[in-house]
This record gives sequence, C-alpha cells and structure tokens, in this order.
Amino acid sequence: MSQWTGLQPLVYWRVYKTGVLPMTDQLVYSRAELLSDHDIADPLVVGGVRCHGGFLSDGTYVSPRTGARTQAIAAWGRSHERTYGTEILAAPVDEWPEAYPNVAQTKFLLSRGVREPTIAALTRIGTVEGFGAMLPYTIVPDLGTHFAEDVDATAIAHLERGLIDAHARDEAGDGEVAGHKDMWFTARDVAFDSPPSEDETQLMLERLGVGSGSGGGFLTTARLVPEIDERVEFLIARMISLLFIEVQAYHTFSWAEAVLSDTDLVAGEGEAATLVSYIRQDESPHVGYLRVVLSEMRDRDFLTTDGGTIAGAEVIGRLYEHNKASLHSRRDESYRLMLNEVERAVEGRRDAADVLAGFHRAGNVRPGPDGTFADAVATSEY
Ligand SMILES: [Fe+2]
Ligand SMILES: [Fe+2]
Repeated sequence: MSQWTGLQPLVYWRVYKTGVLPMTDQLVYSRAELLSDHDIADPLVVGGVRCHGGFLSDGTYVSPRTGARTQAIAAWGRSHERTYGTEILAAPVDEWPEAYPNVAQTKFLLSRGVREPTIAALTRIGTVEGFGAMLPYTIVPDLGTHFAEDVDATAIAHLERGLIDAHARDEAGDGEVAGHKDMWFTARDVAFDSPPSEDETQLMLERLGVGSGSGGGFLTTARLVPEIDERVEFLIARMISLLFIEVQAYHTFSWAEAVLSDTDLVAGEGEAATLVSYIRQDESPHVGYLRVVLSEMRDRDFLTTDGGTIAGAEVIGRLYEHNKASLHSRRDESYRLMLNEVERAVEGRRDAADVLAGFHRAGNVRPGPDGTFADAVATSEY
C-alpha cells in the first residue's frame, strides 16, 4: 500500500468539502470547463491560416482551452503533493541533447542555400504533432476502478473528462481552426515560401521513419507490467512516451525559434519564430497534466488482474525506465536519418564535400567511421 491511505486524505477532503480552500483550489471540473477558452479579443491568424489560441485585449497571447485547464492542473498537483507528501514527477529535460542538426549547422546549411533538411525537420515535427489526434482512443473507461484508492478530484479522473480531448485538439486542430500540426506547417511555409508537394512530403517522412499509420510517434512495448490490465498498461506507456516527446520538443522549440528568427536566412520577418513561441506556450499544460497524472498513479496502488495490488511506483518505474532507455538507444538512428537528408540535399553539388565538412565542423556530435555518433567540440560557429 502506498504511504498515505489513512488520515490525511480524509482531513483534506473535509477541508475541501466545507469550502475552506479558495476557488483556485477547485478540484472537480466539467468537461466544458476544461475545454473552455479565454475571452479572446483577436484571433491568431498567420499566413492566412486561422490558428488556435488568440490575444487578450492587452495583446497577451493565450493558449487554446486554458480558461480553466491551467489552474486545474496546478490545483491537482498541489493537492497531490499535500495529500501524499511527495513531489510531482520531474520532466527530465536535461536527459536529451540539443537538436541535430544544431542551430549553427542549420544556419550554415541555409547560408549555403541548402534548405531541404530544415523544411523536412519542420514537416516531421508537424506530422508527429498531428498524431495527437489518436490520443482519445487511448482512454480506458472507468480508469478509477483499477486503483485500490479512489481517484475522485484528481487529474486521473479528468483524463476522459476533457484533459485528453483538449490535448488532442491542441495538437491536431479542431475543425477549421489549426492546431500544432498545421501551425508547424504554417511556420515552415512562412519561412520558406515554397511548400513541398504532398508526394515529396510522404517520401521524405518515410525516409525519416515517420509512418502514416495511426501508431506513429508512439513507442509500442511488450508487456512490462503483466500484473495489471493490458489497456491500463498501454495507456500509461503512451502517456510516458508522450511526456518524453513533449520534453524533447523543448529542444526542438529553441532550435526552431533560433533558426526561424534569423531574418537574413529565412523569410517572414520572424513571424514563423513568433508562431513557434506560441506553440511552445501551448505545450506547458500537456507536460503539466502528464506529470500530475503519472505522479497520482505512482503514489497509489494498482489492482492486479488476479485480485491483488501492486505499488504504483513499481508500475510507473518499470514503464518509465524502459521508455527512457529505448529513447536513448535510438539516438544514433535518428541522427543518421537526419544526416541522410543533409547528404541527399547536397548530392550532385560541386561543393558537396566542402558543405558537408563545414556542416560537421559546426556540430556537437559527429559520425565516426563506423557510423556511430560521438560528442564533438564545434570548431566553427555560424
Ligand atoms: Fe504540440
Ligand atoms: Fe503537446
């Protein structure tokens, strides 16, 4: 059993029920509340595309569906820390290296007129974001029945009451309003002014290992916690995988903002970089609710299929460590795929060898003779 199953939750409930806590500690929300928007004075329109989110009357950008969601996630997190006496699981940003190609390498390529790898990288990001459309299919009905303790007034209880739906719409869009998928494509089109054709895009995505199938972008794993319901394990594995994708994205955002704000190298007067900064802001509730839900699960006991219980720390720990290890083990492969795009883009140029040498000089990692990548000291800055 987890450490807090007795007095403290009851005390907490009594305080909550009697309304002693201020409104910002509201822990139960309707689906409509979690999907509600701020009052927008001006919509966000970039390159003729109506994007989600918008601007308050004072010009501040606000993310879509954050009328209540952001405060709700913070309230669940505080409530959990108070009730269980533990900290919310950290988002391990430092676990991952910066983007490859890095900013200097990308700018070097652009300065030599080699645009395709950057266009490809932006298309890939948008496509992976679009896989968010599949999220609602991961929901497990009556998730609360799989835990020994109740999940009332938690983020877990709100997964299927708006949290996952809001996340899916943020990534994939909502009707006519563009989400991150099309917003990344818009950033690319504003910056490079020449979208590749659909056919070329599909081929490029296949080369980069991004399939068009529904499972793309997620890790599929063998059963690691066979003690619990398979659907619950699958849901948790996807949430951990998503958390890691979101965390990795932080590096992608800083890379994209640095590249796309360079008005000497890309078009759009910095508008594409500004759009990426809004996307970055929109991601924070995603990282936020995933961290809180995984912490709530970690500190509870799961019911096993044979009628027993297993500690949440064991369940989350196994899945978390496995996912982290497989991400690390695929690092070289993802570098190689991007390098292939660079080599492909310079193929046939008379100065191909020169451009490639300059590209590698600006890198923090370089391929060795055996194809594995090793850390390197960049010897030229763009
Ligand atoms: Fe996103
Ligand atoms: Fe996200």
